[in-house]
Amino acid sequence: MMTQKQSHTAEEIQVWLLSHLAKALNIEPDEIDITASLDSYGLDSAKAMSLVTQTEKMLGFEVSPMLLWHYPNIEALSQRLAEESEDLNSTGRTNVTVIKTATLDLSAEAVLDSTIRPVSKSFDFSGNLDNVFLTGGTGFLGAFIIQELLQKTNTDIYCLVRAAHQEEGKQKLRKNLQQYFVWEEEYSPRIIPVLGDLSQPRLGISSEGFEMLAANVDAIYHSAAMLNYVYPYSALKAANVLGTQEVLRMAGLYKVKPVHYISSVAIFESPVYAGKVVKEEDDFNHWEGIFLGYSQTKWVAEKLVKIARDRGFPVTIHRPPLISGHSQTGVCNTDDFINLMVKGCIQMGYFPDVEYMMDMSPVDYVSKAIVHLSRQKESLGKSFHLQHPQPVPFKNLIDWMRSFGIPLELISYDQWQAMLVNNVSSVENPLYTLRPFLLERWSKEQLTIPDLYLKAKRPIISCQDTLNALAGSSIVCPPIDSQLFMTYSAYLIESGFLKIEELGVRS
Ligand SMILES: NC(=O)c1ccc[n+]([C@@H]2O[C@H](COP(=O)([O-])OP(=O)(O)OC[C@H]3O[C@@H](n4cnc5c(N)ncnc54)[C@H](OP(=O)(O)O)[C@@H]3O)[C@@H](O)[C@H]2O)c1
Repeated sequence: MMTQKQSHTAEEIQVWLLSHLAKALNIEPDEIDITASLDSYGLDSAKAMSLVTQTEKMLGFEVSPMLLWHYPNIEALSQRLAEESEDLNSTGRTNVTVIKTATLDLSAEAVLDSTIRPVSKSFDFSGNLDNVFLTGGTGFLGAFIIQELLQKTNTDIYCLVRAAHQEEGKQKLRKNLQQYFVWEEEYSPRIIPVLGDLSQPRLGISSEGFEMLAANVDAIYHSAAMLNYVYPYSALKAANVLGTQEVLRMAGLYKVKPVHYISSVAIFESPVYAGKVVKEEDDFNHWEGIFLGYSQTKWVAEKLVKIARDRGFPVTIHRPPLISGHSQTGVCNTDDFINLMVKGCIQMGYFPDVEYMMDMSPVDYVSKAIVHLSRQKESLGKSFHLQHPQPVPFKNLIDWMRSFGIPLELISYDQWQAMLVNNVSSVENPLYTLRPFLLERWSKEQLTIPDLYLKAKRPIISCQDTLNALAGSSIVCPPIDSQLFMTYSAYLIESGFLKIEELGVRS
């Protein structure tokens, strides 16, 4: 229950936030700089949510967790909350759900450093790879791209990795491949860590290291990005946009080499594309109405890659939809949206009755397709949609779970949202940390992000050209059917992510 509403000044809120943040972080309040980013204190999603809940109690009104990312230091946040406190008291409203963001002109962000150009106009493509540079090798998709490259070519892979020293970098890469069941001891000498950071100039690599890579690698696979559905564009720009610029910088130096860029179908999230068929080579000039900071960065980053292509760089662009688990082992990134949503809804006992399509592609299909397409001369300059050719309604999954006796009820989306607000009040339920993503209202129509993902509001992503390009390769996207659901749930249960006792199966 929230306490009675009353106005609070920015100073009062500041003192209160300082003491509670210090407590959460186990440090003294005077160790916190009110102008420093909250992120720099290691405020993770769970601690942030707990701070928000306590702040709501103190202020007596609902506080959007998004405010933490839009006003990311104590000084700015206190000021904004004080304004809201006064505003809400005078108007009688009870929550702060709309973010007043400055309008961001994404097209003005899509500017590629004019010095980034291919060193020569000519480029002889040979599918042979001896050395490649890869980003994102400690991530989900990156692990499978590494496996595919190691199996299908003789290349060594230089992997950008955030680590304090070589050995730690090596361990991070090994652990990641082990986690996804793709590690083989014989891979070890062919996977070489390169210490760095995507968000830094020259990817945080020493000048000599950057130049050495630029002079020697035959291709670049750029899979790294910060995937975060809560942060605004400004917080993700350095890694996702400027990092892509640095990758292109490396591609142009000393010798021309192809860049295989992992984009996303999210670049078509502008409502202009809703209900329309979008093909691989269609323009994506519309950005108005893309609300997620992450999707905004993917739109801008892909524009940079397109500018590079127009300057003569050989590039291929790969746009996956949501990437689901491996079709044979079921191994997946349990933190992805579908897994968290399914687990959270099972805990609640209710699913929202919505027209969603499960447009997801298994990671083995995505990684095999990327590596195969990247090695075909005809692919250069093209974009590919790794969309599932036959997406199925989300309800298929619910019916399948019910057929096992899992007691699930479908309720209207409004009822479900109300339950999320009133009944999901602890981090034990993964939906708790997803609340900002699920409840925030955006756009003129005050829609939530899930509203924007309803079938009618999404584009129809055509993948026909990609299927044609894959014809004859034996790479086929596995169907989303009961066998795949079985493989996925077996992994989720074996890994302990889903607990049998939580499923409440009726015998
Ligand atoms: N997963 C999906 O459903 C999906 C859908 C469409 C498109 N994509 C795209 O596919 C690509 C791979 O996604 P994923 O699922 O593999 O993501 P992931 O598992 O979250 O991996 C992200 C990778 O990026 C690295 N990274 C992030 N910030 C970095 C930085 N500042 N410096 C160096 N490395 C950094 C991470 O390194 P650390 O280990 O150090 O964090 C990790 O290796 C991304 O470009 C994403 O946008 C993914």
